[in-house]
Amino acid sequence: MRRVNKGERARLSLTLNGRKVSGEAEPRMLLSDFLRHVLGATGTHVGCEHGVCGCCTVLIDSTAARACLTLAVQAEGRAITTVEALAGPDGALNALQQAFQNNHALQCGFCTPGILMSFTDLLARNLCPTEAEVVDVLGGHLCRCTGYAGIVAAVLEAARGKSEKSP
Ligand code: FES
Ligand code: FES
Repeated sequence: MRRVNKGERARLSLTLNGRKVSGEAEPRMLLSDFLRHVLGATGTHVGCEHGVCGCCTVLIDSTAARACLTLAVQAEGRAITTVEALAGPDGALNALQQAFQNNHALQCGFCTPGILMSFTDLLARNLCPTEAEVVDVLGGHLCRCTGYAGIVAAVLEAARGKSEKSP
């Protein structure tokens, strides 16, 4: 991690959704703010800013992490993946997003980017999660709209689709 002194701004370079990007950050700037306000990646939402709600979840080097608990300077040289990376270049939803739509797993959608990133991480590591494993990951997220049942159904549907496709 780069050392940045008080009052100084650091020029950070990282990979965002497969693209090399750079921008300036103050020492205490959060990764969530850096993504949204410096890099313009506003798909990552910010709710509590205390690591509780899960809205800001992104992948850092393929592992789900709270962007509001990560300093921007800690992302120097890392690969960050945000919700913007999930749909295809033509805007087509990926399998997980489509399953969310199929199962009415979102209403206002505020919590959805973070939840999608946590389950992108889970499904990359575990092709066939049990309902208990899905519920366990969902325990790290707060949704004020859907009541969670649709989200669990969506993730299980996406997992079934993935495991059917795998050899
Ligand atoms: S905004 Fe990061 S966990 Fe709530
Ligand atoms: S869909 Fe509205 S907060 Fe989750």
